[in-house]
Amino acid sequence: MMRPTITTGNDATKGTSMDKLIIQGQARLKGEVTISGAKNAALPILAATLLTETGSPNTLQGVPDLADIRAMLELLGDLGVSAQREGSTMTMTVTDESNSHAEYDRVRKMRASICVLGPLLAKRGYARVGMPGGCVIGARPVDLHLRGLRALGATIELDSGDIIAKADRLRGAEIFLGGAFGSTVLGTANVMMAATLAEGKTVIESAACEPEVKDLADYLNRCGAKITGAGTPRMCIEGVESLHACTHTVIPDRIEAGTFIIAAAATNGDVTIQNARLDHLFALTDKLREIGVTVTQTENGLEVNAARRLQPVDVTTQPYPGFPTDLQAQLLVLQCLADGNSVITERIYPDRFMHVAELLRMGANIRKEGPTALITGVKELIGAPVMASDLRASAALIIAGLVARGDTEVRRVYHIDRGYENIEKKLTALGANIQRVKE
Ligand code: EPU
Repeated sequence: MMRPTITTGNDATKGTSMDKLIIQGQARLKGEVTISGAKNAALPILAATLLTETGSPNTLQGVPDLADIRAMLELLGDLGVSAQREGSTMTMTVTDESNSHAEYDRVRKMRASICVLGPLLAKRGYARVGMPGGCVIGARPVDLHLRGLRALGATIELDSGDIIAKADRLRGAEIFLGGAFGSTVLGTANVMMAATLAEGKTVIESAACEPEVKDLADYLNRCGAKITGAGTPRMCIEGVESLHACTHTVIPDRIEAGTFIIAAAATNGDVTIQNARLDHLFALTDKLREIGVTVTQTENGLEVNAARRLQPVDVTTQPYPGFPTDLQAQLLVLQCLADGNSVITERIYPDRFMHVAELLRMGANIRKEGPTALITGVKELIGAPVMASDLRASAALIIAGLVARGDTEVRRVYHIDRGYENIEKKLTALGANIQRVKE
């Protein structure tokens, strides 16, 4: 097979595993910041281009230039999709359907690679995809993805650690996708993508309601799919014969926006956040109001105002529209600075607390009990060398570094490059003293 062209982004922005960030704390963030397109919307949408007819170019706007996006583009390259980037616009064209094997080495590096399973199966009748293992935030099984695809008539077996899925033509079905931890975001995406080309009607009950799932459905509907109810727990998909390419703009990244809002609040800053949707952030803004931070929609964007004394709060992470697990670590830093005792309970990934041990090194007072962290506010955090363990934990440690007295060195910064576009440039423009040291 001829490998299709892939121009994935700017080499200068690619970090290495040894890069670290050095932050001189206690600068108030001030100014305007523009949020990029959502990583977690762009990843499944890029995978969904596999469903479109060969030779017709998809134009996707607002695709952030991130390590995870580049990994998806490499994988799609293996699978015969060409990719060209110009700024934040990607042109994606299926050029060759002969290879349907997503190798474990690719999937291992980025779990969202599992999103190619549904599209490959539906469009090509065959998919071989490395079974993702666990990762630092927890076990992360894919049983619900497989259950959903089986319900659509696929035969699925495991061979040498790969999932092998086959079907001549999938058939619509009624599928319940709830699991022990609630709905599944990428599981819903996989089954929805597969059902677009199935014969007849599919109903997904207990579908994930995340805005990223809705954005994927909007993209697919532009391609000619017939999906209704996306963004609610009951989704209907009327199968069609084929999907054509289209032009689509990816929604703004609500987690990046939330991270900047929390950073602004933590530094008692004066920040306006552009290209962010307040309607995607209600669970956060509601909690922030209790803490003493208001977020207001103005003509220029979202304005963040923090009281000098922050109040303690209890938070539980839940599927959307509940409080997102992807903002748990960042909010925990704000709780460290509140005047009293706070609680944060993780209901999506009970072990996602790797940042706690690092925050203790910075003088935080946190006790972990099972899936709960009990936080007693401290007067100040103190700069220290700390280790990033995953994407959102890294963001939390950066926020901690921004408020701490003295210097903080965040090591293993490659985690942050997976999901935040130009984070140190954006923070520097807001007045932070933050530097990347390449080793
Ligand atoms: N789960 C199962 N079985 C499955 C699938 C999931 O038991 O087959 C469980 C998971 O173990 C977890 C819960 O269900 O306890 C929810 O997981 P979900 O499937 O919704 O997670 P995901 O789709 O794999 C996406 C995001 C994550 C985000 C979660 C939860 C992408 C690419 N990833 O993962 O984002 O934390 O939803 O909102 O969309 C991040 O961006 O940092 C990140 C980890």
